[in-house]
Amino acid sequence: MKILKWIGIVLGGLVLLIALAAGGMIASTTSRFSKTYDITPAPLTVAIADGDLAVGEHWAEMHCRECHGEDLGGGPFFEDPSIGYYDAPNLTSGKGGIGATYTDEDWVRAIRHGIKPNGTSVFIMPSENFYYLNDADLAGIIAYVKSVPPVDREIREPSLKPFAKILYALGAFGDLLYAEVIEHDVRPSAPAVGVSVEYGEYLVNSHGCKSCHGEALSGKQPPEPGAPLAPNLTPGGELAAWTDADFISTMRTGVTPGGTELDAAYMPWQGLGKMTDDELKAVWMYLQALPALETTTE
Ligand code: HEC
Ligand code: HEC
Repeated sequence: MKILKWIGIVLGGLVLLIALAAGGMIASTTSRFSKTYDITPAPLTVAIADGDLAVGEHWAEMHCRECHGEDLGGGPFFEDPSIGYYDAPNLTSGKGGIGATYTDEDWVRAIRHGIKPNGTSVFIMPSENFYYLNDADLAGIIAYVKSVPPVDREIREPSLKPFAKILYALGAFGDLLYAEVIEHDVRPSAPAVGVSVEYGEYLVNSHGCKSCHGEALSGKQPPEPGAPLAPNLTPGGELAAWTDADFISTMRTGVTPGGTELDAAYMPWQGLGKMTDDELKAVWMYLQALPALETTTE
């Protein structure tokens, strides 16, 4: 019977160790969510009051509405019994909306730096991409969001279950607290608008192609189980055989020249396909100018 006692002690010790590790991971995620950043954003060179509403609406169509809703009044973003829930905020000036109290500086800090007025990082909201937006585009976006009709909708305080915090600490979702990864004191260059390699790079950065297709755009496997590989977009991949018309049509219809239907749950072509012809041509020029890299999965 001694052996049973020893097995009991070993198993009990293991359970205790696992509980301690889990507790440590939960505490680490909680402290990352509550970490504060003290950033005073540089004022935009284009006054928000002069922001181009059409430019702002174009960006909102391609990005903001996908998460903050058609009326930008926010609502449930994800909800799962084992993970918890997180809502996308109401961006309007209606009841429950952040627009009612946000200053111009708050808007710039949240979108460009990923930092909320209380100093903590945004979660999920892709500021690591919006960080690249030039002053004119950002002023247009803020002016447009401020111009939409107020929506009265209260948004719930987010709630993440301990299991979600453990998964987050293990890196299962990647890094989604974007204030942690943004280089706050560097401003990326803002090339002139045009059909050029430089402007194509600007669009690729601010639309977030690299966050899925990899830093070098040579391909990356999304973290979700069962997700398709985000393919190699350099001339080392399938795109080497495409024309600019093939590329534009793929982005607009979600069907590649080879007939593959792109899964919109993983490749957001419905939003990105709203880029104008000139914008898509600039993106294509940039992709074609990249070195031909071997396909990677990370
Ligand atoms: C992938 C989904 C997604 C997209 C795209 C997105 N957001 Fe968000 N946004 C969120 C979520 C989720 C939050 C809540 C973050 C939090 O509370 O940590 C948020 C937070 C914000 C906040 C901060 C709100 C606060 O609580 O202080 C602002 C401002 C904002 N978004 C504006 C925008 C604008 C403008 C766009 C388009 C340019 C946009 N978002 C695109 C998901 C998104
Ligand atoms: C949220 C992640 C995500 C973002 C952002 C994203 N992609 Fe994708 N993309 C994917 C995934 C995943 C696939 C593969 C989808 C499938 O096979 O169903 C894909 C497929 C593609 C394809 C088809 C390639 C082929 O060889 O069949 C092209 C072209 C493409 N993306 C271009 C872009 C461009 C350009 C951008 C930025 C403007 C972009 N993607 C942004 C995830 C993303």
